Amino acid sequence: MSENTSKCDIGFVGLGVMGKNLVLNLADNGYKIAAFDLDSEKVTAAMAQDVAENATGDARVIGCSSYTELLSQLKSPHLIVLSVPAGAVVDQVCQNLIGAGIHPDDIVIDTGNSLWTDTVERENKYKDNFIFFSSAVSGGEVGARFGPALMPSGSPYAWTRVKPIWSAIAAKVDAQTGKPIERTKPGEIVTQGEPCADYIGPAGAGHYVKMVHNGIEYADMQIICEAYHVLRDGLNLSTDEIADIFATWNQGVLDSYLMEISVEVLRHKDSETGTALVDLILDKAGQKGTGLWTAVSSLEVGCPAPTISQAVYARSISSFKELRGDTSRKLLPPEEVSLTEDEKKQVIEQLHDALYCAKICAYAQGFQLMKLASLEHNWDLNFASIAKIWRSGCIIRAAFLQSITDAFERNHKLENLLLDDFFAGQLSDCQQNWRLAVARATMMGIPVGAISASLSYYDSMRCAVLPANLLQGQRDFFGAHTFARVDKPENHKFHVEWTLPGRPIRKI
Ligand code: 6PG
Repeated sequence: MSENTSKCDIGFVGLGVMGKNLVLNLADNGYKIAAFDLDSEKVTAAMAQDVAENATGDARVIGCSSYTELLSQLKSPHLIVLSVPAGAVVDQVCQNLIGAGIHPDDIVIDTGNSLWTDTVERENKYKDNFIFFSSAVSGGEVGARFGPALMPSGSPYAWTRVKPIWSAIAAKVDAQTGKPIERTKPGEIVTQGEPCADYIGPAGAGHYVKMVHNGIEYADMQIICEAYHVLRDGLNLSTDEIADIFATWNQGVLDSYLMEISVEVLRHKDSETGTALVDLILDKAGQKGTGLWTAVSSLEVGCPAPTISQAVYARSISSFKELRGDTSRKLLPPEEVSLTEDEKKQVIEQLHDALYCAKICAYAQGFQLMKLASLEHNWDLNFASIAKIWRSGCIIRAAFLQSITDAFERNHKLENLLLDDFFAGQLSDCQQNWRLAVARATMMGIPVGAISASLSYYDSMRCAVLPANLLQGQRDFFGAHTFARVDKPENHKFHVEWTLPGRPIRKI
């Protein structure tokens, strides 16, 4: 056996929950891994789990105690995967690899949720030392172990080396049905089906797409939480009753991972008290930043993403727990609405349709944002391929991602999902219930910011004449900012002395 064949295929840095599970997933798929973490206990734990889960008894994970040892264990040219926190740690690890003697043709893959602009900088910053490649991972710990969605981007040459590995470990979808192929046991591998991993584009593009994935994730989660709020406080349903409703919804067009886990969260009982655990969880939401980045980027790119932004605001509002306590004692609720059993059933149906429509709008916003960013940065993103990647493995996986895939396959240039015949039809079929659900919630005084932001988005987008004519008049009045006229070419700008009646309009 030559020296290179006995060596490890992949070096891995960072053995937290995601890292360890990615390592075991790679090992199941036949790769030998040299693994390193600053915390040696994590290295020991990964090796122990590998031995416990590996029926052959051969060690597939080789623990390393330094970066130098890590490099010495690897086949050349080296391939090193990082699963470390986004931010400064990525650069620290890169510098340590340089110190340990990494080569210019070696590849380092950042799998964290890095800010996309950092990734662009890093590719350039490290180009003389090694090839910096990125591949955001979605799917949480179970996804990492049994098949995540992967969003690789950067050097096309690096992708040719990474592709077979990523195709092996990624979640898979049946090409005929578009349904995920389940893989749930250690040692199990799936070789058939379409992998949820495809090249996204140049450096930064993959992390941008993952950022928007997370923005949609925020919106999707918030929409579900708003429905829960109406069912809990508007209809006074028990947690188990709400779980049953969500479980039914999960059988149809709302079939999604986030709906499925919401059912499980609602059904979970606290071991200490026996009550639903969700009722004991403090209503203050955390956030690590990717939803915020999406909202900021939507403002910078000039692409409306109000459902996503509203979902970020909802998390911020939740964090003002004490203030909300004070205001709840000060500000009056609306008059109480009492509903008959039939009316309650109607509200449940209306909410179902509201969720579906709000979700379609959140995806429409996310995809349009990626489209505009792609044009701005020349990424040439393929939206059918992105929708395909998101059909399984990732957190926003949902049955209707197949419909989004179909929409972009029908029309690769589709400007906005709302223009697709299928989605336009779904929205018009459900819009009446959507409006009634928002109206009901509003009359009950229950905030449904994301669901109603989607509705306003829908109404604004289908409004051929918005009131921005008055706004332009206001701007010209106080700041001589000029305006265009509907009866003249748009590039002709006009200004009027508003306070002097009869003064002619000047063309600027
Ligand atoms: C995923 C998740 C993952 C992570 C989020 C959570 O795709 O696997 O999105 O990336 O769970 O970063 O983000 P917040 O902590 O901001 O909710």
